[in-house]
Amino acid sequence: MKILGTGSALPEKVVCNDDLTLFLDTSDEWISTRTGIRERRVLSEETLLDLANRAAENALENAKVAAEDLDMILVTTAKGEAVTPATACMVQGAIGAHCPAFDLNAACAGFLYALDTADAFIASKKAKTILIVSAEALSRFCDWKDRSTCVLFGDGAGAVVVGEGDGLIGTKLFAQSNEPILYAYGDPGNSPYEREKHPLTPLHMAGQEVYKFAVSHSSRDLLELIERAGKTPDEIDHYLLHQANLRIVEAVRHRLHQPEAKFPHNIERTGNTSSASVPILLDELNRAGKLKTGDLIAMSAFGAGLSTGAALLRWTL
Ligand code: ACO
Repeated sequence: MKILGTGSALPEKVVCNDDLTLFLDTSDEWISTRTGIRERRVLSEETLLDLANRAAENALENAKVAAEDLDMILVTTAKGEAVTPATACMVQGAIGAHCPAFDLNAACAGFLYALDTADAFIASKKAKTILIVSAEALSRFCDWKDRSTCVLFGDGAGAVVVGEGDGLIGTKLFAQSNEPILYAYGDPGNSPYEREKHPLTPLHMAGQEVYKFAVSHSSRDLLELIERAGKTPDEIDHYLLHQANLRIVEAVRHRLHQPEAKFPHNIERTGNTSSASVPILLDELNRAGKLKTGDLIAMSAFGAGLSTGAALLRWTL
């Protein structure tokens, strides 16, 4: 499998740290020094589906692939536009594709899970060309009165078109059940039969525990993938890490003894966009001409589950 093109879309509305101080007991100083975040984009006029469609269309254009030539659409999202149908089916209709489409939820690691899933479909010859869209609107299920979570997140969508080729070198998926430290609940129905129903609960996160898990597992996943490929960390050109906290990116970088330039970041502008963060960053680098043919790219993401995903690939565009 190889990547044929990338796309992304962010909401128009920019919310900077000072804007949050109008209704939260927080400060630009706390948020920027603890996380690296200076501003984030949040849905206001547009919908999550608008972002997903825009990212999809940008990726198709970049890949020079027509929507009718897609064999599958995968959308990764922690919470799509609706409980049902799948956001992937909505994207299919909007872009004029005719292929199977489904959603996949692996929280912030979703894009890496989708890359591996797409690779399996392509390797088994069940599909040749697949669109992956990672679209997230955490602003919709954060508690905007909880300063320990809402300041961290932003909305956005990133997309790639993948096809047959020899770009993907390896992947690693991992999950370790730990619901109490990162969750959000909510079903709109009112079944009279279900005895223990979770009340609507916005996103809850035990930040420090997630932090420790992220640093140790992201470093471990990356080192394992690089070693499995017979490479060393020095041979990797770009490390694209989930943009959850700049301190996590820095901690992983130190563990791998790598220079800052190899760990690009956009968290200062986007906040944590969950599974969309790695493909948005990839698209920004691609469009800025920072990826050269043959470059080795290592990706890693972690999130609720807890789950992690990593991939090593050679840039073939
Ligand atoms: N503004 C001001 N003060 C704050 C804020 C805020 N926005 N948030 C918390 N504080 C306070 C706390 O109340 C606490 O005060 P206290 O010492 O008086 O009790 C103090 O700051 C320190 O809080 P900590 O939680 O210890 O701060 P920490 O340095 O651990 O940073 C953070 C918190 C940023 C959440 C960090 O732990 C982190 O990044 N964790 C990982 C998050 C992550 O990666 N999530 C990814 C998955 S998300 C997903 O899957 C949906």
